Amino acid sequence: MAHYAVRESPPLRGEIPISTSKNAVLPIMCGALLTRGDVRIENPPDLTDVTTLCSLLEACGARIHRENGALDIGAKDFKNPQDEEDVRKMRASVLVLGPLLARLGEARIPLPGGCAIGQRPIDQHLKGMSALGAKVHFDHGGVTLSGRLRGATIYLDMPSVGATENLMMAATLADGTTRIENAAKEPEIVDLAAFLTSMGAKITGAGTSTIVIEGVCELHGTTWKPISDRVEAGTMACACAITGGELFLRGARADHLRSLLFKLSEAGVHIKDTPGGLLVFGRAKQPFEIRTMVYPGFPTDLQAPMMAVACKTGGTSVFLETIFENRFMHAAELQRLGAHIRVENRVAVVEGTPYLTGANVTATDLRAGAALILAGLCAEGETVIDDTGGHIGRGYECIEEKLTAVGGNVKRMDQV
Ligand code: EPZ
Repeated sequence: MAHYAVRESPPLRGEIPISTSKNAVLPIMCGALLTRGDVRIENPPDLTDVTTLCSLLEACGARIHRENGALDIGAKDFKNPQDEEDVRKMRASVLVLGPLLARLGEARIPLPGGCAIGQRPIDQHLKGMSALGAKVHFDHGGVTLSGRLRGATIYLDMPSVGATENLMMAATLADGTTRIENAAKEPEIVDLAAFLTSMGAKITGAGTSTIVIEGVCELHGTTWKPISDRVEAGTMACACAITGGELFLRGARADHLRSLLFKLSEAGVHIKDTPGGLLVFGRAKQPFEIRTMVYPGFPTDLQAPMMAVACKTGGTSVFLETIFENRFMHAAELQRLGAHIRVENRVAVVEGTPYLTGANVTATDLRAGAALILAGLCAEGETVIDDTGGHIGRGYECIEEKLTAVGGNVKRMDQV
């Protein structure tokens, strides 16, 4: 697995192309299982999570072909994955549950383990599938769902992104109409609904807290270009904020990043929305307060990159992480670079410091790894990030190349 060597860099200047969204592509790939027709996904990001999900879909019997910037998925004949390891490798694999159940009338997946940032239960997914008529049976560390799905009204106890996606997919082929109340409103939900609609699904309300799906007999193939990655764009905006300079984030959408852009403006960073993307310039100087919330609140996935920014602003910044129970592991690593951070349960208090110094640190999860790269860009000397867990490559396409192209001193070394 890789590690990254980052050296103090000048203010970043230039253009960064933003990749297709990981968190949009993964549910859309699972949605391709809902049809016997062919699905083409344009410009999928080159990420290990996408590769892992391709292996899982192949294990389900789908035909996968990647060529010329497109990913073709054909699920004419498919089955439940036999090898549980394929599912356990990545949490987003739980999203095959809805399509498998809707198409086959039976789905079995291992209960996804927790991960570094939290327990990651799937009770809301299972509660919703049960409301749709599925029988739920637990054994040997897995869960089996079976039964013909019929429309129902589902109330989510919390607006879970994955549960909303899974249930929306399952409901497209259920008998009758389904209402999902207290649904998640993230842009990736809206994109998935639009993708499913292009396959013939009947969905209204995506992007609001009530989504209505009218079941149909079958869905047909389609070609789809998913939205750009708002978390990558936000991470690169943070890279500009921590080093100063001027970056044009090609393909970034301001309407997907309002909360972050407001926070960066509060910190003194300038942002200009243009038809082709976002222009970000200037350094973050002022402290800020962040409370992570479900969309359209501040995204939990940008909490770690913004903490790297807070390390270098003047004054005291405060973070309240309300979504995941253990998402401050990057704080201890940032402290190794000289950051002054105090963590108490879900609150982190960051005293900005004029300088950081390079050290050996560890990427504990995907967004934490990105935060350490950002901090390394403005730490005296060299910062070596151990990414043995392969976290960074799961969610950031060629981050080292993209940052190097705008003046960042970032090298990726693959350990044997
Ligand atoms: C999605 O995860 C994203 N992943 C996450 O991005 C993101 O952080 C998260 O949404 C929140 O925005 C993908 O889209 C692949 P949730 P998901 O279900 O669907 C609890 C990244 O870095 N919960 O909205 O798993 C859960 O424990 C990743 O790209 C239940 O209690 O998130 C968490 O505390 C990390 N029961 C909260 O809800 C359930 O059945 C939010 O989870 C489901 C969730």
